[in-house]
Amino acid sequence: MRIAFISDIHSNIHAFEKVLEELEKENVDKIYCCGDIVGYNAFPSECIKLVKEKIDGSVMGNHDYATLTGETGWFNEYGVEGISYTRKVISDEDMNFLKSLKTHIYLNVDDLKIYITHGSPRDEIFEYVFPDSSDDFLLVLADIAKADVLVFGHTHLPMERRIKRKIFLNPGSVGQPRDGNPKASFLIFDTRSKEACFKRIEYDIDDAAKAIIDNGLPRFLAQRLYLGI
Ligand SMILES: [Fe+2]
Repeated sequence: MRIAFISDIHSNIHAFEKVLEELEKENVDKIYCCGDIVGYNAFPSECIKLVKEKIDGSVMGNHDYATLTGETGWFNEYGVEGISYTRKVISDEDMNFLKSLKTHIYLNVDDLKIYITHGSPRDEIFEYVFPDSSDDFLLVLADIAKADVLVFGHTHLPMERRIKRKIFLNPGSVGQPRDGNPKASFLIFDTRSKEACFKRIEYDIDDAAKAIIDNGLPRFLAQRLYLGI
């Protein structure tokens, strides 16, 4: 089975639509999202609608959680403004969808146990698992998750690590990449060959950036899209 993993869409409908177009061409079997559907960008409702229509499952990210609860104490000013904008523009139905998100998903495919979360198995919404994490740390996480493949979001950095037959993946971010490459990021994992294929897709950053500014969100949130930071 070919499973697409996407993450950190962050209300960027322009990037999300392009990624879905590409996945249609790729003819993947399933699509899962590692959380942070909303926050930062201008189109939270539009992104929630597409997640409902096109995605087989999503977990809850810290921005989804903050939108639900209004708790933004740990965010910088840009995060806070993104959450208050999101809470203003989304519907009760959108809010109920965010409330329905679980903090992890397990899949059992081709004798592989796959664990999907936003943060880490120790702290599923908030803890970051960075690509340069130590082998020991990652193996502890695999032990907690009791899985062969662990898929994270949250860092906005693509990651592939293989340690003692455990596989650790992060698809990077659809809507706000932070690895210096502004193209939308995602990956396709083949459960038979166990290969992960990372993809980058161009989208209309001008339109996404203009919508951020037109809706009164911080200018930096528009600028960072061009830089991939
Ligand atoms: Fe995020």
